[in-house]
Order: sequence, then C-alpha cells, then structure tokens
Amino acid sequence: MRHWVAFLVWEVDCLEQSGRLEWLEKKHAMSQYANYTVASEDYDKTRAAVGVESILGCLSRTGVLLDDQTVLEAGCGTGNYLEALRPHLGCLAGMDFSEGMLAQARTKLSEDVELTCGSILDMPYEDERFDGITCNQVIHHLEEGPGASDDPAAWKPCSFPSVTQFFQEAYRVLKPGGAFVINATSHKQFRDGYWWADLIPVAVARLSCRMPDLDQLRQILTAAGFDIEAVSADLDGILQGPSYLDPQGPLSEAWRAGDSTWSLTSDAELAEAQQRVRRMNAEGTMQSYLDERESKRSNIGQTTFVCGRK
Ligand SMILES: C[S@@+](CC[C@H](N)C(=O)[O-])C[C@H]1O[C@@H](n2cnc3c(N)ncnc32)[C@H](O)[C@@H]1O
Repeated sequence: MRHWVAFLVWEVDCLEQSGRLEWLEKKHAMSQYANYTVASEDYDKTRAAVGVESILGCLSRTGVLLDDQTVLEAGCGTGNYLEALRPHLGCLAGMDFSEGMLAQARTKLSEDVELTCGSILDMPYEDERFDGITCNQVIHHLEEGPGASDDPAAWKPCSFPSVTQFFQEAYRVLKPGGAFVINATSHKQFRDGYWWADLIPVAVARLSCRMPDLDQLRQILTAAGFDIEAVSADLDGILQGPSYLDPQGPLSEAWRAGDSTWSLTSDAELAEAQQRVRRMNAEGTMQSYLDERESKRSNIGQTTFVCGRK
C-alpha cells in the first residue's frame, strides 16, 4: 500500500511537471509490466553495469576526447552505468521516468550529474546537445507488447512505434558525429542467455514481442538517420551479478524482481516453473541443468551492444 501511495504521488508530480495526460496513460500501461518505483529499492542487489568498456569504446571513436564529452544515459535507472562512466567522461546526464529509481541514483552520484525525471520518448533537451547517448536495457520497456492471452498464436503482430520515436529523439539531441550506444538483449539471448528462461518460455516469448530483434533494431536506427558502426555481443557480462546462479532463485520474489521477465509470467507458468525448480533441487539434478544452460549462455551472452553514429 505504502508503495502505491508513493507511486501515485510521484505520478501526480510528474504529470504536473510534464502536463501531459497522454504520457500518464502510457505510464499506467507500463506499470503493469515492471513497477520500478517498487523495484528501485532492491534493484541494485541483483543488477550490475555490464559492458562499460563497449560503451566507452564506441564513444571514443567520435573523435572527441572522452574527457570533453557530454553524455546522456537514457533510462538511467538507479545510476549504475552513470556511476561507472563518471570517471571517464566530461559531463554526464541521466533521464528516467521513475522517481524511485532516480532517488537511488542520487545517493551514488555527485551533484554535477544532471538527473531528469521524464520520458525518453519526449526529451526536454535542446537539439545537438550531447556528444554521446547510451541506453542500457530499456528498449524492451518502451512498448506494451501482447495482451493477457497465454497463447502466443493469439498475439497481434508486434510493431515498435515508441522505439522509433525514441530513436528520432536521440538523433535530434545528438551532435553530428555523436555516438548512440544501445545495450539490448536479442531474442536468442532472451531464450538462451539466462538459465531460467527455459523455465518460463511464454513470458520470454511475450518479452520478445516488446523488443525488436537485432535486424529490426538496425532498420529502425537507420530509418532514424543513424549509421550502424558496430554490433557486438558481450559474452562474459552477467547482468544479475553474483546472485545469478542461485539454484533456488526463482522461488524468491526479491530474486525474481532482479529481472522484469518474471513479471510477464502468468500465475500458472510461475507455479509450474517453481515446481520444476523444487523438483530439480530435491532430486539433485539442478547442477547439471545449470551447467547445460550455462554452456548456451557462454556462447551467446546476455547483451548486445549496437553502436550507431549520427
Ligand atoms: C531495466 S531498467 C535499466 C536501468 C539502467 N539503465 C541499468 O541498466 O541499470 C529500465 C529503466 O528504464 C526506465 N524506463 C522505461 N521506459 C522509460 C521511458 N519511456 N522513459 C524514461 N525511462 C524509462 C525504467 O524506469 C527503468 O529505470
């Protein structure tokens, strides 16, 4: 109850700031998937900034010294990436529409990092302000995806108007020659980059419907005006940090909160997955299951970095 009161107070704040009913409606749809005002409290227990070197590599190829760059993280969450990037860059800004996530970010960042509450679909920055933009694990949150049916055959075809709108905004606020680094998970990585994805295939399929796969992502980027400079999978990084391989993890709500895919499970799919986990732990087969799943992850990784250039 406390969380929901905080959530409503924050929404009214943000609505007053933005004055846009349309945006508030979008937020309500989004909150059915992942309520980051609640998740912000535990988020950092199960999340790590993966691939910071890939982001810096892409930014460093703009020809502007990293020390002289002004860089935005769009959808910065609790600021893990901003914190890791801070020592390397001149000026940093972060934007997120969850005041709860931004509150956590403020505790770890100095005041010179400019944090803004709002939607990255409609950014308040002037044209050509940034040398670089990075966006980490946000794209799959921008679309609503399929409805309640558990049958993938009943889902409508996916289109990605919000991703398109975001890329157009990113293009507008980037300087010519600026870098746009997207850290996202491909559909194959959704399936095999996370050991537990095999336990909840309908939720994973539903998640894939919220996210253009890499080919389509490239097309949307190109249509927004970007040149694609590099696309590379990060084979080593694990987004959930040390808790990732907890063999009892799916039984814990706090552990599941570390990855929003779990909020797309139906009650029946979650119960069945948990039953499987209990059974494998009781029968002593969990370790071999984890080994088999991990052999797949080590071949494809959990994340892909796409580097676009304006
Ligand atoms: C999985 S978290 C990633 C946070 C951070 N980038 C990281 O990697 O740790 C997704 C974040 O995207 C934010 N988000 C989703 N849609 C957004 C939008 N339209 N505008 C601003 N932030 C958004 C959420 O509030 C959440 O903080």
